[in-house]
Amino acid sequence: MKEEIEQILAEVRDLKCKTEKDIEDARVRLLGKKGEITKLFEEFRTVAPELKKEFGQKLNVLKKEAVAKIEELKANVESSGASSADSFDATMPGDMMELGSRHPVSIARQQIVNIFRKFGYDVAEGPEVEDDYHVFEALNFPPNHPARDMQDTFFVSAGHPNPLLLRTHTSSVQVRAMEKMKLPIRVICPGRVFRNEAISARAHCIFHQVEGLYIDENVTFADLKQAILLFAREMFGPDTQIRMRPSYFPFTEPSAEVDVSCNICHGKGCNICKGTGWLEILGCGMVDPNVLEASGIDSKKYSGFAFGMGIERIAMLKWQVNDLRHYFENDMRFLKEFSSCVEV
Ligand code: PHE
Repeated sequence: MKEEIEQILAEVRDLKCKTEKDIEDARVRLLGKKGEITKLFEEFRTVAPELKKEFGQKLNVLKKEAVAKIEELKANVESSGASSADSFDATMPGDMMELGSRHPVSIARQQIVNIFRKFGYDVAEGPEVEDDYHVFEALNFPPNHPARDMQDTFFVSAGHPNPLLLRTHTSSVQVRAMEKMKLPIRVICPGRVFRNEAISARAHCIFHQVEGLYIDENVTFADLKQAILLFAREMFGPDTQIRMRPSYFPFTEPSAEVDVSCNICHGKGCNICKGTGWLEILGCGMVDPNVLEASGIDSKKYSGFAFGMGIERIAMLKWQVNDLRHYFENDMRFLKEFSSCVEV
C-alpha cells in the first residue's frame, strides 16, 4: 500500500491537463466513487492497527494534494480562456453591434456650418430662453408692432416689460454678437427655435435655423448676393442658380427671399418645385440702420447683411424628405437612410 500511495502521489504532482474535460477525467480517475484514492481509503479499513497512523497520514496528504492539484488545474484553464476551447467555434459569425449615426438635421447643420466656416465666419450660440429685447426689440420690432405676429411666440413670463420667451429665430444671437464682438463681424448662429404653430408636414413648433451676419465698412447687396450664391452652389451643386424676390423683415432693408433652381428637375419643373423650377431656401437683406444703432454700431460708417434659413427645410430639399414630421419620429427606417451621408 505504501508504494501505491507514493506512486499515485507522484502521478498527482506530475498531472498535466489541457482542457476542462481532461481535468474532470483525472478527478474521476483519482477521487471519483471508484477512483484510485477512494479505493485506497477503503483498503485502509483493513490495515493493521499499528500501521494505521502512518498510512492514515500519508493517505490524507495524498487526498489533500490531489484535491488542491485539481483546483489549481481548473483555475489555470479558466484564466487562460481555454475552458471554452471545445465549445468555441471561431468560424461562427460574431454578434452584430448596432452603430448609431448622425441625425439628418445634424448632418445638414454641420454641412451649412462647414461651408460658412470656409468663408471665414465664426460660429456663435446663445440662449434658447431669451428676452423680448434680443428677439424683437433690438431687431426693430417696436412693442405692439404687427410684425411680431409673423412669429407666433411661446412666452415664459408674460406681463413684464421685457418678458422671457422661447426664441423664435436665432437672430437674437446676432444681436448678442453685435453687442459683444469687435468689428468687422462675420458670424453664423446655428440653433433650435420655437414657434407656436400647428404641427403638419410643412410646419413644426420646434425647428432649427442657421442665421448669418456680416458687418464691415462698405458691405453691399452685391456681397450678400455673392455669399448666398456661393453657399447655394456648395450646398446643392455647382450648377445651382439663385433668384431673389423682394420681401419684408423688420430688421433688414431692403429684404429678399432667395430661391435656388430645383436640384431635381434642374429648372424644368417637377412636383417637388410644383412646376416652377425654383425652391425657396432663405430670407435675407441689408441690416437696417436702426438695428446697427440699437447695438451701438455707427450706421454711417458700417453696413452689413444678414440671412436666415431653416435647417429642416434645407435638408428636405437636399434629400427630398416630403414630411417634416419624419425628423422627429425616430423611425429607424428613415434615420438609416442617412447613415452613409458624409459631411463636406
Ligand atoms: N430671422 C428670419 C426668420 O426667422 C430670417 C432672416 C434672418 C431674414 C436674417 C432676414 C435676415 O424668419
